[in-house]
Amino acid sequence: MGTFRKTSFGLAGGLITVGLLLLGASALLAQADSTDTALRQILAAQNITPLTVEADFSPELVALGQALFFDKELSGNRDISCATCHHPLLATGDGLSLSFGTGGNGLGPVRSMGSGRTLVPRNAPDVFNRGAAEWQFMFWDGRIALQTDGSILTPAGAQTPDGLMNIVAAQAIFPITSNDEMRGLSGDRDIYGHLNEIAAIQAGDFPGMWNAVMARVLAIPEYVKLFQAAYPDETTFDIQHLGNAIGAFEIQAFNFTNNPWNRYVAGDDSALSEEAKQGALLFFGDAGCSVCHSGALLSDQQFHNRVVPQLGPGKGIGAPFDYGRMLETGDGEDLFAFRTPSLYNVALTGPWMHNGALMTLEAAVRHELDPETGCATYDPAQLRVTFQPVVMNMDVEQLTLGVPVNRVSLSDAEVGYLVAFLESLTDPAALNLASTIPASVPSGLPLAD
Ligand code: HEC
Ligand code: HEC
Repeated sequence: MGTFRKTSFGLAGGLITVGLLLLGASALLAQADSTDTALRQILAAQNITPLTVEADFSPELVALGQALFFDKELSGNRDISCATCHHPLLATGDGLSLSFGTGGNGLGPVRSMGSGRTLVPRNAPDVFNRGAAEWQFMFWDGRIALQTDGSILTPAGAQTPDGLMNIVAAQAIFPITSNDEMRGLSGDRDIYGHLNEIAAIQAGDFPGMWNAVMARVLAIPEYVKLFQAAYPDETTFDIQHLGNAIGAFEIQAFNFTNNPWNRYVAGDDSALSEEAKQGALLFFGDAGCSVCHSGALLSDQQFHNRVVPQLGPGKGIGAPFDYGRMLETGDGEDLFAFRTPSLYNVALTGPWMHNGALMTLEAAVRHELDPETGCATYDPAQLRVTFQPVVMNMDVEQLTLGVPVNRVSLSDAEVGYLVAFLESLTDPAALNLASTIPASVPSGLPLAD
């Protein structure tokens, strides 16, 4: 079966050195001191530093962004806000494998889909620590990208407004242009029975949609005040002001890096349990995880095919499949490839993978250790009943195109160590984000429920 540990990570020099260090270290693992010595050598070799997020926006900008993030006024049918799918009480996700957009009812695991609507094709990621400088892409397929010259590539191409402060702000102006997520369908009526004017705008006319959203927001006097307070030097407010405010709120409010792992990396040997240290040794060593989950962000900001079973309606020209990064690059090498997730607070952010195919963190770890077997033995029964019929019946060969994927075989105890390591990436403060929820929003519409 070609099961192996350690060999052929596909990377040269550095990792072999690391592997040798680990081999040398493994004999001594009985002693905590030598665990630390081995781990610190690896961290130095792989240049691992604590993740830091810069977030010092004005309180006025953050207050505006908070109102907008929670306000259903931004959605065509006035029935969904960013918070519906990125809710503070659901670790900034929605707890669902795939999201239910406009037309849906309820919040989190009890949310249901509206009639005549389609599933959103992917899992709603968390929005923790998106202000970290390491991020180069937003979205699972990276369709918002920071270019080397500092400019931002988006699905709107040349229609992208100037003045977006970063890729998080750029991302924030797109959910309102998506029919399934927030915009609605042409002919829709909003919760008051008014024609949905945002959905009536022609597909591809991004400025038209953005202007319609701004017209709505600025028709509410409290928003005009909030925009003026956030941007005291400006007299007109456009979609980039909205995007920058939402981005500032997300970065400021969901900045959670104070976890045992970061304290350990910063030098505190006592910050981490022995199990988590063993897990880290595997993660950065024998198990090969840090080949992709690398650097302070634990993501190489690259795209890889992890043989995750396809599930959902599919996306774009690939539907009913989700081709992932290939949808953006057109490159066959990127077929079924998705951006390597950062793993901070990952214990809180299930279901896991780009389509929420896996329902426990341990299942995600086992899949990542041996993606092909994970795919071949995938059991749709783990999913909420709604999602079971949309699992695509594909074999491993179809997903990998015959290119073998590295596998690592570990004992159950070692799998437990990896889980313990991933749990050490949880900032305890991220367990209760209730204080980020406003009491009300300027439109007077109800908050996500
Ligand atoms: C219907 C649910 C839904 C709504 C509403 C929604 N999102 Fe999302 N969000 C998603 C999904 C699903 C993705 C992943 C889509 C993809 O990668 O193709 C996503 C991706 C993101 C990302 C990218 C994270 C990353 O690292 O890739 C950010 C940031 C984000 N959303 C913020 C927002 C903001 C801000 C709003 C409101 C303006 C919003 N979302 C509205 C479901 C939603
Ligand atoms: C070849 C690159 C690569 C390697 C090696 C790798 N990963 Fe991943 N990992 C990814 C990518 C890419 C995804 C997302 C795949 C998808 O959803 O289709 C992912 C997803 C995950 C997730 C789910 C995160 C989430 O938010 O849904 C976890 C947990 C994870 N990996 C842990 C690990 C562990 C533990 C190892 C080592 C045993 C590992 N990975 C090895 C690239 C890699």
